[in-house]
Amino acid sequence: MKRRPEPDWHGADPADASYLDDPYPVYRRLREEHPVSLTPDGVWRLTRHDDCLRMLRSTGAGMRRTDGRLPGQSDEELAEERGQFMLLTDPPKHTRLRKLVSKAFTPRAIAAWRPRIETVTEELLDRVEARGEMDLIADLALPVPATLICEMLGVPVEDRDRFTGWTADATHGLALRRGHAPPELVARVEKARLGLAAYFSELIEKRRGRDGDDLLGALIAAEEEGDRLSPEELLIQSIGLLIAGFETTIGLIGNGLTTLIRNPDEIERLRAEPSLIESAVEECLRYSGPITWTVRILHEEAEFGGHVIGVNEEVAVGLAAANRDPEHFSDPERFDIARYAEDPPAPAHLSFGGGAHLCLGAHLARLETQIAIGRLVERFGNLELLEEQTTWGRSLFRVPARVPVRFRPIAGA
Ligand code: HEM
Repeated sequence: MKRRPEPDWHGADPADASYLDDPYPVYRRLREEHPVSLTPDGVWRLTRHDDCLRMLRSTGAGMRRTDGRLPGQSDEELAEERGQFMLLTDPPKHTRLRKLVSKAFTPRAIAAWRPRIETVTEELLDRVEARGEMDLIADLALPVPATLICEMLGVPVEDRDRFTGWTADATHGLALRRGHAPPELVARVEKARLGLAAYFSELIEKRRGRDGDDLLGALIAAEEEGDRLSPEELLIQSIGLLIAGFETTIGLIGNGLTTLIRNPDEIERLRAEPSLIESAVEECLRYSGPITWTVRILHEEAEFGGHVIGVNEEVAVGLAAANRDPEHFSDPERFDIARYAEDPPAPAHLSFGGGAHLCLGAHLARLETQIAIGRLVERFGNLELLEEQTTWGRSLFRVPARVPVRFRPIAGA
């Protein structure tokens, strides 16, 4: 058995902004030279597809330590933490929380939203058509998923400007517990959490006693029944679903369109063959997904690459690194929108995670992105990026802050 690896970032220090624009060369080096590594803050990292998939599917791992704490969480903090979002829970709590809302996210339930997603997309494109210029983020990638998750939850969409700063800031909360965050960021996350909690508490009180067949109505009903959901859990599931429901999809639409524009042959191919859109969106997820890592905590000792990882050790799973593993994908650095339309299709990417926590909103994110990207490419031609370099940093995720473009409407489209 090998010694513990020497702790090293190997060029992938999250505090170092220089690699974030194109992290893929760093991921490649990790995969080739240090497939199982240890960071200076004591987190193991996996970057090969087989290792990542095995970790995600492992029943001997979860989101919390065996004593129920998150990594770095003190007993006091654990005692104060009342509600928990499903992502940060283990069974049986996770099973109960996820089940309360999972019906709304099945492929069938999501397919019923298609006409609404189409209408929202057409209206947004109508608004910018005459201008010949738009910001792909503010004018399309943000409002499509934000409008839809608001309508699914029963949150007034006209309140959007009140919370889109908070939702972006709140994503950093997922990484704060590693303990070396700048105080300014800690303060921003706290402000965002308080703002969202106050906003949702008020909304939930207003909604009580009124029927509603939206998600908030279903969660309130579960809470009022007593034993299925506590008031704190109701609050945190609502906030979590709002954040998960659009802060990620912004990045899929934004990164996907940016990649298409940088690959003019692929955009032409999609225009000529619109039925490739489903495959194209899978390829966008594989090639430039907005969530690059997820984490697990071991509940049972496990062996990866000859190293033994112990109980309660934290493991970062390199979703984006695994998505370009040449052992798994042929010509992985090539952006090929037909990859998932071949027979047999390319192997599944890991951008939605896996196992018990596999993204609940995957079908929704896919459908929104297929419609948003599909219609934009059909309606607007000569798409040109106005900024060579992407401006990152909207949130913790790999999501651009803005993507200004110029275009020419295609007559009759
Ligand atoms: C492109 C868009 C999206 C991406 C890339 C994405 C990615 C992910 C990832 C990587 C996870 C963690 C999985 C794991 O650790 O195994 C996750 C969990 C989750 N996502 Fe998404 N997501 C997206 C959109 C959405 C949407 C639209 C919703 C709608 C509400 C959503 C709701 C959730 C929820 C509730 C969880 C936690 C599931 C659980 O713990 O059981 N996501 N997502």
